[in-house]
Amino acid sequence: MKNNLALIKMGGSVATYKDRPLSANYSAIEGFSKAISLIKEVPTILVHGGGSFGHYWSVKYNMHTRPDNYDINGISIVHESMIKLNQIIAHSLIKNGLNPYPVSAFALSIGNRPFTTKIKQLYTMAQTGLLPVTYGDAIHINNGNYSILSGDVIMTMIAKTLNPSRVIFAVNTDGVYENKESRKAIPELTRDDITNWRLFRSRTTSENVADITGGMGRKVKEALRISSRGIDVMIVNGLKAERITEAVLAGPENFEGTVIRGHNKRLEKRK
Ligand code: IPE
Repeated sequence: MKNNLALIKMGGSVATYKDRPLSANYSAIEGFSKAISLIKEVPTILVHGGGSFGHYWSVKYNMHTRPDNYDINGISIVHESMIKLNQIIAHSLIKNGLNPYPVSAFALSIGNRPFTTKIKQLYTMAQTGLLPVTYGDAIHINNGNYSILSGDVIMTMIAKTLNPSRVIFAVNTDGVYENKESRKAIPELTRDDITNWRLFRSRTTSENVADITGGMGRKVKEALRISSRGIDVMIVNGLKAERITEAVLAGPENFEGTVIRGHNKRLEKRK
């Protein structure tokens, strides 16, 4: 049974100008906040990415998703930059009548694994009208090793724990493109399309070098993981924010973007 819950990721390519260090896209954030304010009645959890805040510093300090004993100054700086971006987003959400409650990814994970007791509390909080907000970050994994935890991976952690009725990745394209030249979004992707990873990579390779967590490829990989729980995952253009509202309210049968259809691995094996 799915929970009445919208789990939405605002990609860093929506929240920031990825090619301009440390610059928030205020108007896109504002549009996004408005779009979320229109779905007030559906309990919602928001995750956001790092864009030109977290990624900029992660590259400077040579930090990656692989746990390692990175420069601790880098950990502080990346974390601080994510808090700054988070504050800009939280402020905009409040201005639009929402009640954001930022939570560090560190509080939601134990090493690389989800801290399910805490994640379940996010849902309870969302049901009371708060809007829990978390974000990709530099976090401690174990024994003094740190890593960059991507907002995309946090999406999977939360989706697997809470089984939301809607899962949406908001990006700066109309969905997953057929190919880079046509820039036409594929309405629906199956597991087989994605499993053919080499073909897939040629379609989705990030054009942004300052993205250490993997661009669109990473999003689709996480979307595939989430869809294996029987959840449809929608990839939507967050710069056209009304599409976010539509995706939540109308669902995958009537939205603009790419849907990765949910399938149930366990049931399929029994066939
Ligand atoms: C990255 O989060 C966080 C840091 C680099 C600290 P994401 O990987 O989710 O960010 P975007 O959405 O790709 O920008």
